[in-house]
Amino acid sequence: MATVDQIRTALEGVMDPELHRNLVELGMVRDIALDGAAVTVTLALTTIACPLKDQIAADVKNTVGALAGIDSVQVELTEMTAEEKQRIGLGAAPERIGTAEANNNIRHVIAVMSGKGGVGKSLVSGLLALALRRQGHQVGILDADITGPSIPKMFLPDGAHLEPSPSGPTPPQTRTGIRVMSINLILEKEDTAVIWRGPLISGAIKQFWGDLYWGELDYLIIDLPPGTSDASLTVMQSLPISGVVLVTSPQGLAGMVVRKAASMARQLEKPILGLIENMSYFECPDTGKRHDIFGPSHAEQTARDIGAPFLGRLPIDPEIAKLCDTGRLEQYPPGPFESIISELAVHLPKP
Ligand SMILES: Nc1ncnc2c1ncn2[C@@H]1O[C@H](COP(=O)(O)OP(=O)(O)OP(=O)(O)O)[C@@H](O)[C@H]1O
Ligand SMILES: [Mg+2]
Repeated sequence: MATVDQIRTALEGVMDPELHRNLVELGMVRDIALDGAAVTVTLALTTIACPLKDQIAADVKNTVGALAGIDSVQVELTEMTAEEKQRIGLGAAPERIGTAEANNNIRHVIAVMSGKGGVGKSLVSGLLALALRRQGHQVGILDADITGPSIPKMFLPDGAHLEPSPSGPTPPQTRTGIRVMSINLILEKEDTAVIWRGPLISGAIKQFWGDLYWGELDYLIIDLPPGTSDASLTVMQSLPISGVVLVTSPQGLAGMVVRKAASMARQLEKPILGLIENMSYFECPDTGKRHDIFGPSHAEQTARDIGAPFLGRLPIDPEIAKLCDTGRLEQYPPGPFESIISELAVHLPKP
């Protein structure tokens, strides 16, 4: 029956394929938890986006799984601290830490949030960025949806990637000059599933903020994942949010969960700039008649309940879905969203 010490010794035989040093020597083995014949090894990787993490995890499983009396091996991944990275000669030297962040000048950070999935947060983030860009502002979008990123698909051609700069990697620009960062830009294939626990997700979002050179921005729009979980909490607590835009849809459940999101924003003392209702209605192109596909709107009532301005309604528009799916959102003609933006602009802090 293998002991924790024997497992650690066995891990001295597993090399980091890039650094060519063993995991124990590198200080990557955070924890070994042995429960009968089941062992969980927690590894701290040098970067949350390590492209070799699957290989390292597989090597650990094979090596530890081969020991006597071990039936199952689980590998959990987390990230090294800046100090740990420096100790093994990686990461920025102390004077370089935070250089990108120090050189960034981001005037306002606006988070787009909803308690519910699929109501159109990403679309609203994209359209908000687009409308602000059309008004002549410098705009960026940080896709904080690490497990379900959808911003690059709306804006960027395949193969878009970060560009090097003296102050750190720079997010690529869309056709009209919006800077976009998303986990998809650093994954080898865009359909690779990211299965990470909260701390890793939070780490990625913080790096998107602090380790990238965004330059001068009037507005950075943050597209949050659904819910009020780790990613939302990290964004609300770690980034200097100027305000939150809430998105809902006419379904009753959406109203209830948007109230949760509003309550989170309030608890964290972030101003709610307003509520947008998406997929409110469908206007039949033949007859011009409006149909309430998801039922009657409750948005004004919801806005009153949460004490936030109601900004307006977005219709269901098959054309917009098509443009989103083909990376051409910027070709969407100024439409109903412009009036919402002017409404929102009243509440936005001025750059
Ligand atoms: N008003 C609309 N008209 C037509 N299609 C829409 C509209 N709003 C959103 N969609 C489509 O619905 C889908 C979900 O929208 P979106 O990804 O913006 O939602 P989300 O709230 O960000 O979802 P998630 O919770 O998964 O992040 C997308 O395919 C999008 O193109
Ligand atoms: Mg989304």
